[in-house]
Amino acid sequence: MVGFRASVLTSSGAALLCLVSRCLAIPVVSDATTTFTPPAASAPPQVSHTDVTSHGPYTGPQPTTTGALSTNVLAPSIPALPPGPNAYSYKRTGKLHAPEPAPYTPSGGDGTNGSAPVYRPLSDFDYESIALALYQEWIELDLFHWGLATFSVEEFEKAGLTAEDRFLIEFMADQEVGHATLLTNILGAQAPKQCTYNYPVSNVREYIDFCQKLTRFGESGVYGFLNHLNAHDVGQLLLQSISTEARQQMIFRQFEGLFPMPVWFEVGVPQSWAWSLLAPYISSCPENQTRLIWENYPEVFILNQPNPARIDGSDVRNETTGGYTNTLSTKDVSPEDDCLNSDEVGVNCSPGITRNRSQPLSYPGRQVFLKWDDPGKPIGPNNSYITSTSVKTPSFAAWVNQLNVTYTPLEDVSDNTAWTIQPNTSTYAGDPAVNGTMFLVLTDLDLYVTPFNISQMNPHVYGVALYQSG
Ligand SMILES: *[C@@H]1O[C@H](CO)[C@@H](O)[C@H](O)[C@H]1NC(C)=O
Ligand SMILES: *[C@@H]1O[C@H](CO)[C@@H](O)[C@H](O)[C@H]1NC(C)=O
Ligand SMILES: *[C@@H]1O[C@H](CO)[C@@H](O)[C@H](O)[C@H]1NC(C)=O
Ligand SMILES: *[C@@H]1O[C@H](CO)[C@@H](O)[C@H](O)[C@H]1NC(C)=O
Ligand SMILES: *[C@@H]1O[C@H](CO)[C@@H](O)[C@H](O)[C@H]1NC(C)=O
Ligand SMILES: *[C@@H]1O[C@H](CO)[C@@H](O)[C@H](O)[C@H]1NC(C)=O
Ligand SMILES: *[C@@H]1O[C@H](CO)[C@@H](O)[C@H](O)[C@H]1NC(C)=O
Ligand SMILES: *[C@@H]1O[C@H](CO)[C@@H](O)[C@H](O)[C@H]1NC(C)=O
Ligand SMILES: *[C@@H]1O[C@H](CO)[C@@H](O)[C@H](O)[C@H]1NC(C)=O
Repeated sequence: MVGFRASVLTSSGAALLCLVSRCLAIPVVSDATTTFTPPAASAPPQVSHTDVTSHGPYTGPQPTTTGALSTNVLAPSIPALPPGPNAYSYKRTGKLHAPEPAPYTPSGGDGTNGSAPVYRPLSDFDYESIALALYQEWIELDLFHWGLATFSVEEFEKAGLTAEDRFLIEFMADQEVGHATLLTNILGAQAPKQCTYNYPVSNVREYIDFCQKLTRFGESGVYGFLNHLNAHDVGQLLLQSISTEARQQMIFRQFEGLFPMPVWFEVGVPQSWAWSLLAPYISSCPENQTRLIWENYPEVFILNQPNPARIDGSDVRNETTGGYTNTLSTKDVSPEDDCLNSDEVGVNCSPGITRNRSQPLSYPGRQVFLKWDDPGKPIGPNNSYITSTSVKTPSFAAWVNQLNVTYTPLEDVSDNTAWTIQPNTSTYAGDPAVNGTMFLVLTDLDLYVTPFNISQMNPHVYGVALYQSG
């Protein structure tokens, strides 16, 4: 019996017949399971990180560098052009128009000619976009751990979140380690590092609402640039991380007792919108941190932001913990108005796979009151970015969700306040466009844009907020 070494019984009762180089499993007659112990393949290391950083607003010295990264600016905006020369040339006949490069392989596609993918940025656009996504992964990693470390088991249980739910949040934090590692490897030595943060929440429900909102602009911020990347191979990796983020967003909605996905399409938004919403929650970043090119718009407050903690979520006045994300505050919600205290189906909002809200958080025709800040304020890491806009006074609210941008006029514009009316737009018949956690943007022009040229709005944007429409 050349090569025979030993026959051992594994924990499941299967015998392993081990030869010189490998083991063969021989099931024990009474037990059908076969269990191998495969050699552990070595895994690439995680990027260096801290599970929970220090927290609170930035109190350090005045930054020496301020403002977004910039170089020569060639023009104030990108002119709109007609479609490219080949946009209409492919004939949509359902037939093949060119020889197949290989069996079962249609001609065309990008990255299909056999050249080896190299997962590196190919342009400033790529680098700045991935660096923004990395800033987002870092805050999520910290935020998910921070909530678990900050609130007690009793506080989580009071919000209806069990030990299993908390483990899911812990697992989400681990996912962020992976995402931060991936993007750091793509960006190389100057990749932005983990920072310290400051969150606008003081209890579990505010925390879950903030997570739900933060992951919304994390997800949508990437959808906005993914298909514009020069490096499609990098886009492939990013897609595979952002689809995980999308699941996190939905899970936080479920933790909040919201209808998990009240839309048919998830929206994509420009990088500067995501950066404007993210930067206020970063207190400080390490010395020599790589800076970003993106704009920080002034703060916009939705004074009657719908409050998902209420039975009648739309009946509110200034119940947020601040502008930008406009996260819910539970401070003034009395026990009888609190949907967590109801057992009624359609009213109860404890964590669940799905919840009906028989009284919707918002509705077409709702009057929405707005207030905004002036530009020129220090914000973001080390207060080293400055809010700005090229707009003097906004005239429109843009409701940006699903595949649509719908403008409504701002009324009674004075003293940095105005109101507007929630529109009644459908993406397709049967799919009201305004629902879920979406973007409400103040502009000076009702510029027509579609999902792939939405960043053309930027020179006309005054400020960006998240609206909790459902
Ligand atoms: C955006 O794209 C649409 C076509 O999808 C076009 O009609 C519109 O003019 C474009 N907007 C700008 C500002 O480029
Ligand atoms: C194959 O496609 C890549 C882009 O994906 C391009 O850079 C390369 O030049 C192409 N190679 C050949 C042989 O056509
Ligand atoms: C930001 O502030 C911290 C704390 O004062 C400091 O250690 C760090 O070097 C600063 N970062 C930058 C990029 O200036
Ligand atoms: C920051 O950059 C300066 C100048 O390149 C260098 O002297 C210093 O060591 C760097 N600091 C860190 C923490 O990397
Ligand atoms: C909202 O209310 C808080 C007090 O709860 C107040 O500090 C803040 O200024 C108000 N915000 C606006 C925009 O009115
Ligand atoms: C949930 O809401 C839908 C749509 O309004 C309604 O058709 C359905 O009956 C509701 N289900 C329950 C259990 O309330
Ligand atoms: C959002 O969708 C939910 C679920 O279909 C629905 O109950 C609610 O009325 C919708 N809200 C708005 C603002 O359309
Ligand atoms: C919104 O428009 C649809 C038709 O597209 C109509 O059926 C519905 O009644 C309208 N809702 C409101 C509140 O006006
Ligand atoms: C919403 O987007 C869809 C898909 O692009 C488009 O067909 C529809 O016309 C848009 N609706 C409005 C009101 O702009």
